[in-house]
Amino acid sequence: MFLQLYSICVLIWDVSWLILYSIYFILKAAKELLLPPPLKSVSKEVVMVVGCGRGVGKEIVKIMAMLGATVVCVDINKDSNNLTVMQIKQMMPYKSKKIHSFTCDVTNHSDVIKLANDIKNEVGNITMMFHCCGIPSPRSLLTEDPRNLNKTFDLAIMSQFWLLDAFLPTMIKNNHGHIVALTSVAGLSGQKEQLPLSVSQFAVQGLAESLLEEFRINRKDNIHVTIIHIYPFILNSDTAADIRLRIPSYFGTIKARLAAQCIIDAVRRNYIEVSIPKHLIFIGHLLRILPRQATIMIREMLDTGVDFA
Ligand SMILES: *[C@@H]1O[C@H](CO)[C@@H](O)[C@H](O)[C@H]1NC(C)=O
Ligand SMILES: *[C@@H]1O[C@H](CO)[C@@H](O)[C@H](O)[C@H]1NC(C)=O
Ligand SMILES: *[C@@H]1O[C@H](CO)[C@@H](O)[C@H](O)[C@H]1NC(C)=O
Ligand SMILES: *[C@@H]1O[C@H](CO)[C@@H](O)[C@H](O)[C@H]1NC(C)=O
Repeated sequence: MFLQLYSICVLIWDVSWLILYSIYFILKAAKELLLPPPLKSVSKEVVMVVGCGRGVGKEIVKIMAMLGATVVCVDINKDSNNLTVMQIKQMMPYKSKKIHSFTCDVTNHSDVIKLANDIKNEVGNITMMFHCCGIPSPRSLLTEDPRNLNKTFDLAIMSQFWLLDAFLPTMIKNNHGHIVALTSVAGLSGQKEQLPLSVSQFAVQGLAESLLEEFRINRKDNIHVTIIHIYPFILNSDTAADIRLRIPSYFGTIKARLAAQCIIDAVRRNYIEVSIPKHLIFIGHLLRILPRQATIMIREMLDTGVDFA
């Protein structure tokens, strides 16, 4: 009898704390919506950007170099990588010692191991890692061949494992690091016609969440994970010309530069999950809690011909 009473008291106590803390964290999150946390400095970081030859990756490298970070440009295409590096060096000649470039096919495990060795010898420990490949242009989204299944998966998800395998152990040892994964918004909502792509993007989401949990449990609280869902109508405006948009003004296209700025902003604030444009993540969450019939209506209204279709 006494024992029962005791356990009920403990339960009530625990639940009260749970509720109080939940309210506290909800209020804290609401406050951060209005007053975002401060931007962290990246000037002492060694930032590796995979897929820096074009698009968002290229702009990320440029901005990171401007912010004073040591940048390590990695791309499968030697020439476009070289071009990126040359442009940065031209922009900031005084920083040329802080810019390195490596050619690597990140879908090839042995190539990634080689990359890790080269970087260790030439540059040092990577402290931030941006994975920017596997964000397709709208055209490739529309015409993706189902037979390219392993290509899609190798690039979007397997390469993440190879890179983590190579670079995460040092981050864990030093309890210092930041892993940034970019996915298209296909990872927020299932897609017709782009099954492999959508599935691979969901996999990246799962990877990011598992990593977060891993670091939380092992108390690696100085290793951050940021997952960024990008609405794919970015990059150069010419690629988006043939996309049908039911609500063009609402969705418009985003320049790679602006996207990169938003990404770096979110990363420097240690946000866990963001979307570009910002409101899409709320739509994604909404789609999850609403009844299916309602989500179908929303999807049809937002029908873009490529995403959310
Ligand atoms: C990049 O290209 C320039 C001009 O073609 C060349 O001089 C330079 O050595 C190249 N750099 C690398 C790292 O390949
Ligand atoms: C994978 O990378 C290794 C090491 O760079 C290279 O020798 C090998 O040819 C690559 N394999 C493929 C299929 O590209
Ligand atoms: C894809 O996977 C299949 C089955 O494992 C394999 O036969 C094929 O060579 C792979 N294709 C590529 C491009 O790696
Ligand atoms: C890189 O990390 C290793 C492992 O923690 C550490 O011993 C080493 O001093 C680090 N190197 C630099 C340049 O920080």
